Amino acid sequence: METPRIRVLLLCGGQSTEHEISLESCKSVAAAIDHERFQPLVAGITREGVWNYYGEGSFVEEADDPTKIHLIPDAPMCYPGRSTKGAVLYVDGKDEVVPFDVAFPVLHGMHGEDGTIQGLFEMFGVPYVGCDYTSSANCMDKDITKILLNSAGFRTAYSLVIHRGESLSEAYVEERLGMPLFVKPARTGSSVGISKVKNAEGLTGALEEAFKYDDKVLLEECIVGREIECGVLELPDKQLFVAQPGEVVPHDEFYSYAAKYLSSEGATVIPCADLAEEDAEEVKRLAAKAFHVLGCSGMARIDFFLSNQGDWVLNEVNTIPGFTSISLYPQMMKNSGIPYPELITNLIENALSRHSGTKFLLK
Ligand SMILES: Nc1ncnc2c1ncn2[C@@H]1O[C@H](COP(=O)(O)OP(=O)(O)O)[C@@H](O)[C@H]1O
Ligand SMILES: [Mg+2]
Repeated sequence: METPRIRVLLLCGGQSTEHEISLESCKSVAAAIDHERFQPLVAGITREGVWNYYGEGSFVEEADDPTKIHLIPDAPMCYPGRSTKGAVLYVDGKDEVVPFDVAFPVLHGMHGEDGTIQGLFEMFGVPYVGCDYTSSANCMDKDITKILLNSAGFRTAYSLVIHRGESLSEAYVEERLGMPLFVKPARTGSSVGISKVKNAEGLTGALEEAFKYDDKVLLEECIVGREIECGVLELPDKQLFVAQPGEVVPHDEFYSYAAKYLSSEGATVIPCADLAEEDAEEVKRLAAKAFHVLGCSGMARIDFFLSNQGDWVLNEVNTIPGFTSISLYPQMMKNSGIPYPELITNLIENALSRHSGTKFLLK
């Protein structure tokens, strides 16, 4: 008898500012997954937070335009749950529930990368790809990530934290961090709400912009140097694989939202950075250490600056990096010998093997 395929629930869309890029990422994953071993079932989460069920069918329209891509409307709604036999989706209008074996959140930002959906999967006792709820939450908040990394001896950009309603004098900020500086919401991604401020006059506007997205904002010294990114993959046997580092060279002031998604002119993305061998080894070692310190599992893309003084400054950790076929994480893996379909297989197997060590009360 043929072994049944493993049913993989792919989740995409979501309520974050990165809704569209998640759809693009999920489209690539659904196309590249090994269909002989896995049955991909897609649930698309609308901007309002409604779960739509698409199963194995198509789920996006206008997929070739990153500004227009959207979920196909009017799909039946679905709700995750737990039956006595395992995790299921209840689908509107279907008498039978849809069981699934493992979830793959191809979501970015709020309610996708921040530990909330990971907590839901924990509640239902279902294996899921990537970091658990604690490490997801810690990596989503750039302030908390820094506190944890600094306590383990990592160099990060010096920063000040400001909560909604608080104020800091411009002179104090300039004295502590110098100019230019970066203002960023603590918990967004894709450069949303981020500004580079060149003088004290620019501070108020940059803070207003950042507070549109979060109640907590970071002010950071500007690191002058190269942007080097490391892809970390936890293999099914729990060994860590760190790909050869990649590099992003922004053509403008910094790697902005527009440079990431709207124009290929905005930045040059290099899957294998031109680094001396000892520098590449050092940053790979730091990436693996950060992965452990932050309690990550499955995968992460860990982004560094190599400052002009020669220091490795850890910028941020992305627990669900971009997954389009041209995104840096899959490109770095491919360049280091793990093609895209194999990367997906590894991630799913890692999720299943991590989960098999856990015991649940429900049988
Ligand atoms: N302290 C900094 N010094 C220099 N450039 C920075 C700094 N912080 C952010 N940037 C620039 O802004 C981009 C986006 O910031 P980042 O912290 O990575 O946020 P996101 O999570 O949105 O990607 C970076 O890729 C880099 O180009
Ligand atoms: Mg970034």
